[in-house]
Amino acid sequence: MARTQDLREKYGPWALVTGASSGIGEQFARLLAKSGINLLLVARRSDRLENLARELSRRRRLEVQVFAADLADPDAVDRIVAAIGERDIGLLVSNAGFGLKGGFTEAGRARVEAMFNVNARAPLMLAHALLPRLRARGRGGIIFTGSVEGEAPYPWSVAYSATKAFVHSLGMGLYGELAGTGVDVLVLAPGATDTEALTLQGFKPGMMPNLMPAAEVAKQALRQLGRTPLHVPGSENRRQVNAMRRMPREKLIARNAAAMSAALAASRQG
Ligand SMILES: NC(=O)c1ccc[n+]([C@@H]2O[C@H](COP(=O)([O-])OP(=O)(O)OC[C@H]3O[C@@H](n4cnc5c(N)ncnc54)[C@H](OP(=O)(O)O)[C@@H]3O)[C@@H](O)[C@H]2O)c1
Repeated sequence: MARTQDLREKYGPWALVTGASSGIGEQFARLLAKSGINLLLVARRSDRLENLARELSRRRRLEVQVFAADLADPDAVDRIVAAIGERDIGLLVSNAGFGLKGGFTEAGRARVEAMFNVNARAPLMLAHALLPRLRARGRGGIIFTGSVEGEAPYPWSVAYSATKAFVHSLGMGLYGELAGTGVDVLVLAPGATDTEALTLQGFKPGMMPNLMPAAEVAKQALRQLGRTPLHVPGSENRRQVNAMRRMPREKLIARNAAAMSAALAASRQG
């Protein structure tokens, strides 16, 4: 995709954005609205979605609709698809997600299962439900928000990084399968980004190096859609991912274990 302004021309009049109530997803919604794309916004916090919808529809004269759903609920995707109805969705931004840090069994079964459903099951089933429409249109796009943690295993964030590895494989596999169909697919793999997700996981954003603004992360994703299967925003994040790809596996796992436990220790002390 060349420029943000061309998105409506390329992908059509409507986009669905999950996780639009804050952070990277909210910034996706703002940028897509700027491109003149009508929006269906999904997350649990309907008050936030409604405030954003009011603001964007007033400023941009767009249709911005909200659908409150908990993607941990296995039926949520069916309800979202029913809510889409006849709207001509050309772009899916599957972005909702959350992380759990600490030892693998520190979080209870319900939290782990919810994270799996939100981070992995929902993107899979949303793509499965919407792809036939995108293919029939002969043009469309899907952005999956993964993570740098989807590129390698991270001890002390094992289940989260496994869900993101799933998303990376899903997105990049679809990129290959859909080549030549007019449907673009991108996996966005952010490193540390300045959103509520960091504090929710117990990190202190002020203490984190190379923190990227959420708006910049979303902007880069929209620019890279149609150009590459995977985009890591930020030169330092790209340098680290490239270094990880060259490391022997044992060294890589030890490096990630040390990095994650140091980050957790720092956040728990400070
Ligand atoms: N921030 C980072 O450093 C970072 C790094 C790499 C990857 N990521 C990924 O970026 C994506 C966006 O996260 P963010 O950083 O922007 O954090 P955020 O501000 O916490 O946003 C997460 C979004 O996901 C939604 N969400 C969470 N659980 C949900 C559920 N059960 N059902 C429906 N929606 C749910 C949240 O909405 P509600 O709470 O209103 O439901 C919110 O809109 C996630 O996939 C995250 O894994 C973030």
